[in-house]
Amino acid sequence: MSSNKLKRETRAIHHGVSATNKRENSSPIFLNSSFNFATAEDAEAVFLNQKEAYLYSRFSNPNTDELAHKIADLEGAESAICVASGMSSVFNSLMPFLSTGDHIVSSINIFGNSLNIINDFLPKWGIEFTLADFEELKNLESLIQTNTKLLFIETPSNPSLRLFDIEALARVCKQKNVLLIVDNCFATPFGQQPIKFGADLVIHSATKFIDGQGRVLGGIIAGKKKWVDECYNFLRRTGPSLSPFNAHLLSKSVETLGLRMEKHSSNALILAQKLENHKKIKQVYYPGLPSHPDHHVFKKQMDLGGALIAFEIHGSKKEAMLLINSLSLFRITANLGDSRSIITHPASTTHSKLTLDELAAAGISGGLMRISVGLEHADDLWDDLELALDKL
Ligand SMILES: Cc1ncc(COP(=O)(O)O)c(C=O)c1O
Repeated sequence: MSSNKLKRETRAIHHGVSATNKRENSSPIFLNSSFNFATAEDAEAVFLNQKEAYLYSRFSNPNTDELAHKIADLEGAESAICVASGMSSVFNSLMPFLSTGDHIVSSINIFGNSLNIINDFLPKWGIEFTLADFEELKNLESLIQTNTKLLFIETPSNPSLRLFDIEALARVCKQKNVLLIVDNCFATPFGQQPIKFGADLVIHSATKFIDGQGRVLGGIIAGKKKWVDECYNFLRRTGPSLSPFNAHLLSKSVETLGLRMEKHSSNALILAQKLENHKKIKQVYYPGLPSHPDHHVFKKQMDLGGALIAFEIHGSKKEAMLLINSLSLFRITANLGDSRSIITHPASTTHSKLTLDELAAAGISGGLMRISVGLEHADDLWDDLELALDKL
């Protein structure tokens, strides 16, 4: 059967998987750093790119290739590469396209460390940037300069879960010859496929939902082959390659990604609805709720609401800490996208390096919390949250 007739869930299990002459049913781990050549001439041909073969695991490896093929297929991308972490995917998707004197536009509503790369490192290399909030990015055209090379966004954004209309931004980027890079970590390809709406590159922290069980770090860059090839050249020389062991675990996890994202999303919708009706809650941000400011964008470009909910309590940091400390099922940990539910206070953790002005621009108040809803039973999660809210 032609593989493009198969549904995403089926392709996530079968696509890109090959067997060795040992006829294994599940991919083995190729935990080796280099590969042998039959002859010196063979080695020469591979080094000269006259012949395609595995050479060295910093460049490529059967396990990383399997994962990259699966994600490229699910994202509808021509090509993909694996990198060592989500942060490597951010850095490796930016740097190949930038030189001294260039300028980038980025959403300010991005992961704290991604913001640190832009704020702290780009200026050292003479690269200018403009950070823009949701309202400002509606006028993207006015932010683009003659030296602007790319636009970097996260949607849904971290931690406030606002959504960008990818198609609208991509239209302006195309007109102005600006590369559009979308961090698709929160949605995963089962929640949204940015390339379908015009993104040039899609990146992932595979550490999150792609792994889904809090075990290993990983990152992916997917998109048009000509852009991914540039990232590959940068990766090959600078070296943040994904371990074959991690790639093996991540590729096995992709087999259950669709199933897990459906359950994460249905659990999250139940909790978001209950939180919205609770008197101690000031505001709930969940893309799947009709009250979400960008719900029309959700309907246009997303298939699932995802696991992340942001909510503000009536109160500030002190009450937020009390709520967090009163929970028993929700873990306090620096991660998301796990089968276990997680709660985070962004202002004091993931976004603690931001200035007060940057926190305000990103919509991160002392009373804002983010939960990553796991795969437990929704009733148990709500009981836990309700008991903790009663303590406020
Ligand atoms: C949206 C987003 N992008 C990138 C990263 C970085 O990923 P990693 O921790 O795998 O380096 C994170 C981490 O939380 C994230 O939330």
